Amino acid sequence: MAKATFTFPSGFLWGTATAAHQVEGNNTNNTWWAWEQETGHILNGDKSGLACDWWGGRWREDFERAAECRQNSHRFSIEWSRVQPAPDRWDEYALEHYRDMARGLIERHMTPMATLHHFSDPIWLAEMGSWEIDDIVKYFEAFVRKTVEALKEYISAWVTINEPNIFAALAYQQGQFPPGKKDFASARKVIMNLLKAHATAYRVIHQIQPQAQVGIAPQYLSIHPKKPWSPLDRWTAGLMNNVMNEAIPRTIRTGILTLPGMRRQLVEVKNTWDFIGIQYYTREYINFDLGKASDLFIHRSYREEAEKSDGNWLANEPEGMFEALKWGQQFNIPIIITENGVNDKDDHLRPRYLIQHLHQVWRAINFNIPVKGYYHWSLVDNFEWERGWTQRFGLWELDIETQARRKRPSVDLYAEICRQNGISSDIVAHYAPQLLAKLFPDE
Ligand code: BGC
Repeated sequence: MAKATFTFPSGFLWGTATAAHQVEGNNTNNTWWAWEQETGHILNGDKSGLACDWWGGRWREDFERAAECRQNSHRFSIEWSRVQPAPDRWDEYALEHYRDMARGLIERHMTPMATLHHFSDPIWLAEMGSWEIDDIVKYFEAFVRKTVEALKEYISAWVTINEPNIFAALAYQQGQFPPGKKDFASARKVIMNLLKAHATAYRVIHQIQPQAQVGIAPQYLSIHPKKPWSPLDRWTAGLMNNVMNEAIPRTIRTGILTLPGMRRQLVEVKNTWDFIGIQYYTREYINFDLGKASDLFIHRSYREEAEKSDGNWLANEPEGMFEALKWGQQFNIPIIITENGVNDKDDHLRPRYLIQHLHQVWRAINFNIPVKGYYHWSLVDNFEWERGWTQRFGLWELDIETQARRKRPSVDLYAEICRQNGISSDIVAHYAPQLLAKLFPDE
């Protein structure tokens, strides 16, 4: 075996990512809490409950774990319904809580990155129509202004909106997230409003913090036609790629939003980013299916030979990471991988998944693709939206009854990678020996 190390650039950001509703607990004033109370929405009828009890202060012990494992950054999100519990009320205690968290990261030598919208909305906003109404832009602007004013001393890296593409699709077109709509026209309107709100947030943040780094974090799904020789499969895959991957970033690049049945000039959106956050998990194969008229004839599947995660939810397709980064290069701005990870309770697949995906990141950097950081999803098991507690993405395992955390083997693997700022053949030999011959071939 060749002995070698894939070294990352100095200053590379190594972190994990979390989202408020998934970790805080007792988030009783938002759309997800309300959604969890209605039967049939969440697998097993699970509830977020105390989640990881970060609101109760357990963020401290989890940040301590992250710091001990040599992570130098953490991405967390701010819960709008906590900061603004009613349209005419701000909660200074909540803002102080987030200031505490940001200070807690800095004290532990981790750079904070904060997300301003990660899938959850205040109930009062939902009652007004949330992302379907034009006033959303004004409401989001006020929330962003207040939050950034409060945190500007500590945070200068902001993600405006987490996965706007997934949020619009799942909440307004596929009905799995609140408000549970299944209406393409609503989803289109929501995409437009998300873009406008993002652009407004970008400007507000720069007014307050001219030096801030502001980005948006779409999910990049690697989409391939199932039968590359079939024009229909190619057409369907192209359509899906356009809606899912291209529409939002292209609008930010060009100022023109194009979706099936919609074309809008949004000049105010053009170039409103300092970096792009890319979230990559998996690759799908698409074929044209006459029986799926309501889903734009799209039938989705995984490659049969690909390794799958628990419940066959994700396929381990590391080349898709390279593809995502190469795609991101066209925007000519820095790229941060704001999420990547796998649901794997027993940690059978995660070590391999992590090494293989990071190897692709390293390759991309060697092709001069400007990747500045990597945030693994996630630090600790957390409430996995419509799948409740059934899917475990944490480096640390969480016992929801006792709040005890237990280390999965991937904790030490990731710590070694962060410490070495690279992936050595020794690490691979220790954590995923099956990959050695492929990643470090002899001559
Ligand atoms: C989301 C996270 C989620 C993760 C795993 C991403 O789409 O941003 O909130 O937990 O994927 O499903």
